[in-house]
Amino acid sequence: MKIIFLGAPGAGKGTQAEKIAEICSIPTISTGAIIREAIKTGTEMGTAAKAYTEKGALVPDEVVIGIIKERLANDDCKNGFILDGFPRTVPQAEALDELGVKIDYVVDIDVDDADIVERMGGRRVCEACGMSYHIKYIPTKDNKTCDKCGAKLIIRKDDQPETVLERLKIYHEQTEPLKAFYAAKGILKSVDGRGDIAQITESILKSIKA
Ligand code: AP5
Repeated sequence: MKIIFLGAPGAGKGTQAEKIAEICSIPTISTGAIIREAIKTGTEMGTAAKAYTEKGALVPDEVVIGIIKERLANDDCKNGFILDGFPRTVPQAEALDELGVKIDYVVDIDVDDADIVERMGGRRVCEACGMSYHIKYIPTKDNKTCDKCGAKLIIRKDDQPETVLERLKIYHEQTEPLKAFYAAKGILKSVDGRGDIAQITESILKSIKA
């Protein structure tokens, strides 16, 4: 099963990818998480990507395409994977086609902009394992530390309100056209991303017939 999760920043791609990956026993590949890790460890790619992510811009296509090429060559991708956050532009989608990757489903998680702004304002992430929470909808026991590993919760730099608005603008301009790109291939599935997390997981499973 090879699946792409599409959706605005904060639509719940990471939250749902975690769940579906576990149920389907396939890895999740999040370009955002790979980039954040590279920034944290100070690699050459991370240093180059930092300025883009912090202002809410997309990292150049050739950089993310390189990341994906390398990651998909790993053994754990043989039986399928979920791409969370890639592709995000039409050239990235074309590059995936050129690599000969045959995607089964593209799941678009649909949430309107007002809800996105509220979600991002309350998001907290674990500084060690990257687990994502929300102070109201998915709180941890104390809303200060991660329930999974106990490390400190932090606010992502790109979750500042003005950066969120910039990310939404870029999403509408550059990523939303991918819906038409994949609808034309007959593999686009749209799922309502509002409401109960478990129900959204069920809707996704139904849409991919898993
Ligand atoms: P990335 O990390 O991919 O960010 P994103 O797409 O903006 O997605 P998010 O991680 O912000 O949100 P999400 O949809 O995963 O939502 P989540 O589950 O966390 O990318 C970061 C940056 O890296 C980009 O801006 C760019 O610079 C760069 N980058 C990455 N990929 C790239 C690419 N392909 N090309 C170029 N640049 C790239 O949920 C959000 C919040 O809502 C959480 O607090 C969560 O707990 C909560 N929540 C989830 N579901 C629900 C629900 N049903 N109800 C209430 N709250 C919910």
